[in-house]
Amino acid sequence: MSLLVTGGAGFIGSHTCVELLNSGEEIVVMDNFFNSTPKALDGIRQITGRNFKFYEADMLDKSAVDKIFSENNIEQVIHFAGYKCVPESVKKPFLYYSNNIRGTLNILESMEKYGCRKFVFSSSATVYGIPDAVPVREDFPLSAINPYGSTKLIIENLCREMQRADNTLTMILLRYFNPVGAHSSGLIGEAPTGTPNNLMPIVIEKALGKRDRLAVAGNDYPTPDGSCIRDYIHVTDLAKGHVAAVKKARELKGGCPAYNLGTGRGYSVFEILDTFERVNNIDLGYVVGERREGDAPEIYSDPSFAEKELGWKAQLGIEDMCKDAWNFAKKSI
Ligand code: UD1
Repeated sequence: MSLLVTGGAGFIGSHTCVELLNSGEEIVVMDNFFNSTPKALDGIRQITGRNFKFYEADMLDKSAVDKIFSENNIEQVIHFAGYKCVPESVKKPFLYYSNNIRGTLNILESMEKYGCRKFVFSSSATVYGIPDAVPVREDFPLSAINPYGSTKLIIENLCREMQRADNTLTMILLRYFNPVGAHSSGLIGEAPTGTPNNLMPIVIEKALGKRDRLAVAGNDYPTPDGSCIRDYIHVTDLAKGHVAAVKKARELKGGCPAYNLGTGRGYSVFEILDTFERVNNIDLGYVVGERREGDAPEIYSDPSFAEKELGWKAQLGIEDMCKDAWNFAKKSI
């Protein structure tokens, strides 16, 4: 029996493959290298000393997805594959719905056809929209504020409704806060193929001299230093959360629980930039810029449900996140 990891060459997918292999799981990986490269697969093999089956396949290709299920005995699917750039989703909503929803439907359809009953979904804290309060708990109201968020919410709703109709299905929804960092070996990390939009990849580009300007997106928010607060989580901790979720899915005879994967601690943009400069001994030369549209002043998780139910808790701190992100970036130039 194997676990199918879709999008396994991506940022969170590759780190999860490492943790799954290190904990003795058998995996089959599929990726179309849309926002990843084969280098990540070499990194996974090098870190773990283990090999695995890989399929270069697009989840929109139904027969390719079916082929993976027909050639392997898939016990669970961990579904990472999907487009994730918020501004692009606003410009190209159809593309996001088409890829993320259609692709997921294909996976779920093949699961049904081949009798695979357990699904772990890569959701996001974006499903809380702009929360009314912090820390954010799993029972908070859900809403989408952009097409990317809509695709996450639609897939979550689909899982809940499928599970309600068939209570022997096990679907676990993992809501990520802000994943950053890289594997401590520096062999895998975040390597976006296009122009980055998230804070840490932008910081890295500035540190590498690949961009001229790094701006704090507003310093007039109602927070202690005026910049926005987020719950940054080291990608290795996040990956370990998936190992715990896979074990939980194995125990459950059915259900569709959602878990926040965050640290429960918020950091401001200034704190991130200052920590990055200090631990890496780099002057980022950042400036204060305009607010970014749609940003909530403060979002951080209450991760206690995940701790109680999954026996999982983030261990690494903001210094590790900044050091490891830079260590990977330096090695990959
Ligand atoms: C963003 C997405 C969210 C997605 C998440 C995935 C938006 C509005 N939200 O969350 O849906 O699930 O990424 O990781 O895009 N910042 C700067 N300067 C910059 C870039 C960012 O100060 O050049 C600030 C932002 O204002 C924010 C923080 O850094 O306060 C983090 O930004 P980002 O990494 O884009 O994450 P989120 O906005 O939290």
